Amino acid sequence: MALRGFTKSFARGLSYFPAVRTRWLKGIACLIPENALAICNLLIVGHIVNGVTAENAADRMTFEQVLVWTGVFVASMLASSALKFGMRWYITGASREFERIYRRDLFAHFMSLSPQDVAHIRTGDVMSRAVADIEAVRMLLGPSVMYVARAALLVPAVLVIMFMKDPIVASAMLVPFIGLALVVKVAAKPTQHWSTESAERLAELSTVAQESFSGIRVVKAFATEGIAGNDFKRMGQAFLHANVKLATLRGMTSATILTMKEVGVLIVLGIGGWRLVQGQLQLGDFLVFKECLDIALWPLIAIGWMLGLYTRARTGAERLDELFDLRPSVMEAGDALAPEHVTGDLEVRGLSFAWNDTPVLEDVSFHVPAGSTLGITGRTGCGKSTLVQLLSRQVEPPAGTVLLDGHDIRALSFDHLRRTMGVVPQDTFLFSETIRENIAFAGDHIGADDVETVAAIAQVDKDITDFPDGYEQLLGERGVTLSGGQRQRTAIARTLAADPPVLVLDDCLSAVDSVTERAILGGLRQRLQGRTAIIVSHRVAALSLADRIVVLDEGRVVEQGTHDELVAHGGLYADIEERQRIEEEIEAL
Ligand SMILES: Nc1ncnc2c1ncn2[C@@H]1O[C@H](COP(=O)(O)OP(=O)(O)O)[C@@H](O)[C@H]1O
Ligand SMILES: [Mg+2]
Repeated sequence: MALRGFTKSFARGLSYFPAVRTRWLKGIACLIPENALAICNLLIVGHIVNGVTAENAADRMTFEQVLVWTGVFVASMLASSALKFGMRWYITGASREFERIYRRDLFAHFMSLSPQDVAHIRTGDVMSRAVADIEAVRMLLGPSVMYVARAALLVPAVLVIMFMKDPIVASAMLVPFIGLALVVKVAAKPTQHWSTESAERLAELSTVAQESFSGIRVVKAFATEGIAGNDFKRMGQAFLHANVKLATLRGMTSATILTMKEVGVLIVLGIGGWRLVQGQLQLGDFLVFKECLDIALWPLIAIGWMLGLYTRARTGAERLDELFDLRPSVMEAGDALAPEHVTGDLEVRGLSFAWNDTPVLEDVSFHVPAGSTLGITGRTGCGKSTLVQLLSRQVEPPAGTVLLDGHDIRALSFDHLRRTMGVVPQDTFLFSETIRENIAFAGDHIGADDVETVAAIAQVDKDITDFPDGYEQLLGERGVTLSGGQRQRTAIARTLAADPPVLVLDDCLSAVDSVTERAILGGLRQRLQGRTAIIVSHRVAALSLADRIVVLDEGRVVEQGTHDELVAHGGLYADIEERQRIEEEIEAL
């Protein structure tokens, strides 16, 4: 039962074992002789002391013999130190390698997921799992293996030695040994409870810190520093409480352990001394008993520590499995296509879509012939961004509803699709790197000239050259050091730099004034020559480049045609157009 629970919880961890097996086995190969030498050293010291203090002259060691045995002792010490080093090097190394593979796979797994797959997960929580939980599993499968193996080898060995030396003293020594084991056992449960508690409080604390920090603008805007501060204070208290409990327990445990050890010393002195005076025990053996206690002490404590660690690691492994269990909702087809020739003909056929059972799009169909520009407009919330995510396959469209050059996009390889279709999303995200690196994000093949050309088309070049470091300006996290409009224009430049045959712009001029908007559209006109483009905007003026326009309302295509046709038709488009034109005229006054 217990074993099945273990293999189930640690299935993933165990599957990494083959990768670190060689290193791990080398560690164990050092561990066994190292323990044997530890026992030898103990016996050699006893032997020397027995030799020099022997009562009858015939048994007494000569000076040369003492020298030889001391030499043996030193050699054995050196060898055991070297082996101890090897053991730690290999076993800790194996556990670090294990940790690296685990974390690498977790990262790769996350990269395979789509935004909506992880929408319900908090960054702070993922961070704490990726750091603390992996560390807990590593500790269990690495260092604790080492300590348990040591304990399993050393404790029986010293018990055998003690009983061979003197069964009476050895029996009395069982008292501190059993006492130690009991202390360790009793302390294990509360220690494990409070260390889990401490880890959870820390995760909570980091989540709040991370969110308050990322959302600092909102916190400031609503003057809720006090509330955030109070939450933080309360969680800090809880974390402190768990840690104080833990420290108290650890302090009490180690004090009791030391007392047990002193009891052991007392027994060696009392009962051992009595046996010594009786002539049943030699002085060297007296020393051996004391050493046996020292040697066995550590592994016993380590077993207790491991018992505490076990539950922590198990919870950690299960928490990590929860992340690994997230299935990507968009997956590459097994025999994904990557057609060599791309014309850029895009068709949407009878596309309906619902977000968690709330219908957003219904029976949407349109055709964008290769090289033409389609405008999509409609009121906010009518489903434009959802449509963009579907036709670029950031969200999975139903089979056969989105076709690129006649192929269902679900049959195309990710690489092909991403290279063919460039999307400027409505919400831009910039990395905290230089602005040049942000624009050249799509690949190393983008040169300095390309970056400057696309920055000029996106009308962000003047802003950039005005920065103290120009193109080498480092951006703050998520690009916070830029204005909303600058961020949008940088994002446009980034997509243009990738030079995709099909370009999709999702309401990405919303934070740009109308003069700049016109300049960007002017630059795009040239760039779009021979390319397929979809320009999505809730503002009609941004659609001047479009050959045809699709008007969405409540998820349905309500009108389709050229700008002039739609205005003449006098429907929703004409309405929106008129209202926005009047708004602009009023603004211009
Ligand atoms: N990731 C999502 N999960 C659930 N609902 C969503 C998600 N994204 C958008 N929606 C919902 O879909 C509807 C259409 O939104 P959206 O496509 O962003 O509209 P638009 O871009 O036209 O303003 C809205 O009611 C919105 O609440
Ligand atoms: Mg939108």
